[in-house]
Amino acid sequence: MSEELTKVTHIDNVRLGDDERSVVIIDQTQLPNRTEYLTLRTVQEMYDAIKLLKVRGAPAIGICAGYCMYALARQIDTDDFDYFVTTFCRYKDYLNSSRPTAVNLSWALNRMDRVLDRGQGDEDLGDVLDALGDECRAIHREDIEMCRAISEYGLSLLKDGDGLLTHCNAGPLATSRYGTALGPMFLGKEKGMEFHVFSDETRPLLQGARLTSYELQKAGIDVTLICDNMASIVMKNGWINACLVGCDRIAANGDAANKIGTSGVAILAKHYGIPFYVLGPTSTIDMSCATGDDIEIELRDPEEIKNKFYAEPQALAEVKCYNPAFDVTDHSLITAIVTEKGICYPPFSDSLAALFAGDK
Ligand code: MRU
Repeated sequence: MSEELTKVTHIDNVRLGDDERSVVIIDQTQLPNRTEYLTLRTVQEMYDAIKLLKVRGAPAIGICAGYCMYALARQIDTDDFDYFVTTFCRYKDYLNSSRPTAVNLSWALNRMDRVLDRGQGDEDLGDVLDALGDECRAIHREDIEMCRAISEYGLSLLKDGDGLLTHCNAGPLATSRYGTALGPMFLGKEKGMEFHVFSDETRPLLQGARLTSYELQKAGIDVTLICDNMASIVMKNGWINACLVGCDRIAANGDAANKIGTSGVAILAKHYGIPFYVLGPTSTIDMSCATGDDIEIELRDPEEIKNKFYAEPQALAEVKCYNPAFDVTDHSLITAIVTEKGICYPPFSDSLAALFAGDK
């Protein structure tokens, strides 16, 4: 593997601090201009880092949440098991309230919480802390393995020379190692394949411009940045063979929440007869949501639309803005959902249920 590729795919985006009482992240809001590492020590710093998208991308949020709970647990200064559990749950609930849409956040927090359930009865806090440490490391390790498998399955859907379009950022910064939607591109590059990737800039927070085009360019992959409203013309020009996107929560019927604008890309892809693939780990599938209507969509500060990234406001202060951070792509627009356990095809209610059939 080339050094330029490894530098991107093996970036240390989230890790436990050396003292194991803190979490170290790359501040993604500073990219691509500065690579700054932040040490999160308090629950407030952790909450803010997730809320303000310093750490972002569904799997990375989950990994970060796992490490945060372990670091916070180590800071709880008590021998009393009940006090420990109460404080732990207060931290957990607070972190869980930082962002509602990506299920990986509550999924990881619940995994950490279940460690406490298993500790009931033993109640040796030293053992509980060790088990929490093991669990957060397992969440991270498993995500690395899942991203690799998703990349392999995704690559099997592509051919050398393909033109690809992606929206938002589902690469190493948003996950671990290869990423999900960008995983097949990195893996393909590793195997000597060439793709021509179009990256939607992804208004209003520009994850496509700031993060996706940065990751692909640094890895030596041919990438062209476009504004979101240019997706139609590149499809019409015949430059796109497949669309690959990540996901924040997938409902049992295959409806998939992802960054705002994703559903528009899927509608365009359907119009032009281009396959539309959603790639994500099974930790992003929420079988308790029957359809996309059950997925809570995060509403963010209108200032992100009017003022962010501009020296001067780009609309009158009194103009109303609607700023949903995600939308739901209807399952009928999705060609396949690529997970670490395999590729699911319609009808998704059957193929997704089959993924979990063996888990009971
Ligand atoms: O608001 P963000 O930047 O956290 O949104 C991220 C996305 O929508 C990603 O596409 C999704 O989380 C998948 S990341 C593998």
